Amino acid sequence: LPRILSGMQPTHDSLHLGNYLGALVQWVRLQDSHDAFYCVVDLHAITVEVDPAKLRERTRRTAAQYLAGGVDPGRSTVFVQSHLHEHAELAWVLSCMTGFGEASRMTQFKDKSGKHGAEGTTVGLFTYPVLMAADILLYAADQVPVGEDQRQHLELTRDLAQRFNRRYGQTFTVPEPHIVKATAKIQDLQDPSSKMSKSSASQAGVIDMLEDPKVIAKRIRSAVTDTGREVRFDEEAKPGVSNLLRIHSALSGRSIIELEADFEGKGYGDLKKEVADVVVDVAAPFRERTLEILSDPAELDRILAEGAERARDVAHATLATVYDRVGFLPTK
Ligand code: TYM
Repeated sequence: LPRILSGMQPTHDSLHLGNYLGALVQWVRLQDSHDAFYCVVDLHAITVEVDPAKLRERTRRTAAQYLAGGVDPGRSTVFVQSHLHEHAELAWVLSCMTGFGEASRMTQFKDKSGKHGAEGTTVGLFTYPVLMAADILLYAADQVPVGEDQRQHLELTRDLAQRFNRRYGQTFTVPEPHIVKATAKIQDLQDPSSKMSKSSASQAGVIDMLEDPKVIAKRIRSAVTDTGREVRFDEEAKPGVSNLLRIHSALSGRSIIELEADFEGKGYGDLKKEVADVVVDVAAPFRERTLEILSDPAELDRILAEGAERARDVAHATLATVYDRVGFLPTK
């Protein structure tokens, strides 16, 4: 089976609807046809300052949400990045092959560091995409299911894999991004010109999957819509309405054309009401399952320990090859 790897940062208590639709739904689909590795990337989460107790709690919560969304630990390997030392070690080797200018061109770094200013940002945030490349290359992933915002990091990963292979001989699989256009970029409900994001200034346009269903419904009913009154998919003229139609379609499984026909003669209020219902129908049971999984932390930790063991088999072998190719003296 072709291999896939993906991960999410445990930086918040809840995944948002963008993480759910852009990543988790795809992960669940792909596990039928792929050998899947799904990682909670806690090393990435300390690129900004975080309370240690919160980080531990969010690492479990993130893993629990993978399972609640339908990732099956019997088929897929679910693990925590820091349980393996190989990620940080490969990241060091790759960082020695990454140009400073090349890393400086990463737009996500520019956006994030821009908010804190050059003094407030860290070297870890700067080299973050190199650690992500290590995550992927350790497992020889053929494909990486992510949202649109990760495309540039995938390009860097491919470049690093090819560079290493040229310099030291064929070692890494060059991965392809797996980005599903319909859900690759879910927009903020209050500002449909920017993506829904955990770090948005205002949380009013962000739908947290573990939020009280009443709050979710309220947020969707107060989503910003556009001028005019016709419910029609047009990302230029009607970004707010188009975003709601995308969300509806992804969750209900009905095509956008079908939805447009359905809403003919109806207004934005009707659309928002129905989208709220569709989202709550998915989010409420998701929340229930997550809480249920979290009520048995020993079982969750057992699943993660088993995942780490499976991941280690693969990661250990890759890193050993890399160390040998690079010329590190073997231990006797
Ligand atoms: P993170 O934790 O920011 O986001 C997790 C996943 O959610 C996707 N996503 C979205 N998709 C659609 N619409 C949105 N508004 C939206 N917001 C987020 C992201 O694209 C991502 O797939 N660097 C990664 C984590 C990472 C990783 C990896 C991913 C570390 N190592 C290796 C894949 C492979 C990140 O910060 O994702």
